[in-house]
Amino acid sequence: MEIKVTHGNVVEHPTPALVVNLFKGVRKPGGATGAVDQALGGLISSLIESGEISGDSGEITVIHTRALLASGASGKAAASPVAAERVLVAGLGKQDAFDYDAIRTISAQVARKLGALKVKSAATIVHGAGIGGLDPASCAEAISEGSLLGLYRFDKYKSQASRSGDDTDGDGPAQGPDTLELIELDSAKEKALERGVGRGVHYAAAAIMARDLVNEPPNVLSPTALADAAASMAKESKLECKVIEEDECRKLGMGAYLSVTAGSSQPPKFIHLTYKGDARRPANNIWLVGKGITFDSGGLSLKPAASMVTMKGDMGGGAAVIGAMKAIAALKPKINVHAVCAATENMPDGSASRPGDVVQATNGKYIEIENTDAEGRLTLADAICYANNNGAARIVDVATLTGAVSVALGRGHIGAFSNDDKLYRALEDAAAKMGEPVWRLPLGQVTKLQNNSLIADLKNTGGRNAGSITAAQFIREFVGDTPWVHLDIAAFNMSETVSGVNVKGATGASSRLLVRLVEDLAG
Ligand code: BES
Ligand code: MN
Ligand code: ZN
Repeated sequence: MEIKVTHGNVVEHPTPALVVNLFKGVRKPGGATGAVDQALGGLISSLIESGEISGDSGEITVIHTRALLASGASGKAAASPVAAERVLVAGLGKQDAFDYDAIRTISAQVARKLGALKVKSAATIVHGAGIGGLDPASCAEAISEGSLLGLYRFDKYKSQASRSGDDTDGDGPAQGPDTLELIELDSAKEKALERGVGRGVHYAAAAIMARDLVNEPPNVLSPTALADAAASMAKESKLECKVIEEDECRKLGMGAYLSVTAGSSQPPKFIHLTYKGDARRPANNIWLVGKGITFDSGGLSLKPAASMVTMKGDMGGGAAVIGAMKAIAALKPKINVHAVCAATENMPDGSASRPGDVVQATNGKYIEIENTDAEGRLTLADAICYANNNGAARIVDVATLTGAVSVALGRGHIGAFSNDDKLYRALEDAAAKMGEPVWRLPLGQVTKLQNNSLIADLKNTGGRNAGSITAAQFIREFVGDTPWVHLDIAAFNMSETVSGVNVKGATGASSRLLVRLVEDLAG
């Protein structure tokens, strides 16, 4: 879908579908919606009056303007009062709860509706920029982000015949319009809106790349395929990409990471992408570390069948950092950004790690493997040591790390952990702005003890209680004093429903917040 900004008047703009909006509780719409209402002879107001239109968030009312035209006795249609063939009134909900994420959400819903209506092009007013009182460029950004994400589909394995394009179970949303125009009357705002649209497209691209990688089946997306995807993105985006092979990983001392690979016939690939946005100051950097388990069977601590079904998505953190790098390369913030993904499968076979094995990470720490299904933290341990050994000034790791985070926080917030209030606040702020809110959980002394091992420096599980916290405590042992945030995205990585910017399947969770954090840190 192409998104562009058009200078013009919504009433006079010819389009198959024009999107206007309404806050809940407004009885007489103003602004652009008011102008359209007036042109339609007060039809929108009367539908509000009768209760058909309430402005509830997500409510979309389609008014077919052609049907309104009484053909006279001559059979000749009168001129349409608005140039649009349809007017969609999109409910924005209560004005006091309205923000950029509400714009993303309604834009996604509207985009899916336009797809279902099978219109080839559409035009919209800039939600939020009028009586919403928000920054017009950011509104345009949210509209383009929401529209693109809301229409996401992954149908490369659907043959033409089964590609119904309807939003029935198992299908993605219908194909959206080819073009979406943002109509703005004030030509002074045009440039800012265009900049906003461009940024939104890049944010969406980050999440879309992550979604594509997560949705790939695990027989296709091996660690090698993931490394290849990172390399080809890097080539297109002019980033450096280094893939460290198993032998080299062994030389570097990555015993924890390689213990996870041991049970798989697929070679591990340690992926390192570099964006140099401030080459003269290498210390001005951030390292994004993503968990990259291309399939998590649990290893010898084998998962039950039902728990394995979504485990192709266990590289969601890696996908998020790789997707984020694509957008970062395009947005060009003045900061150096590294993305690392220690990719591997977690499989059971004769050479797999056993519960009880002791392995050594890059920093020399001995780890007793109590449960081979707590593999993510083993791979992250060595990836974080690698970041530290290469001069990381800040580290953010992202991982589908624990089922326990869903128990703790559900899908309300991404679980967050940090050793640094300043970095955490920056991340929390970026996350809120992107509609991917985080909630910080504590790293206290009591839960730290749960990882104590009888025979080694620590063990990779901390018992049933506080499962997400003990996982984070484990990772912290490899972070040292580097400012660090850990995000547990297990609850957000996949969606079972169509909701807001998400469709069924991979969500690309945390990729957009990472891009925003990097930009904010660059100042
Ligand atoms: N990849 C899983 C966590 C997960 C669970 C992600 C559900 C997405 C949805 C992780 O490797 C894992 O298996 N964690 C175990 C840890 C336990 C063995 C300490 C878990 O959560 O059960
Ligand atoms: Mn696991
Ligand atoms: Zn896992």
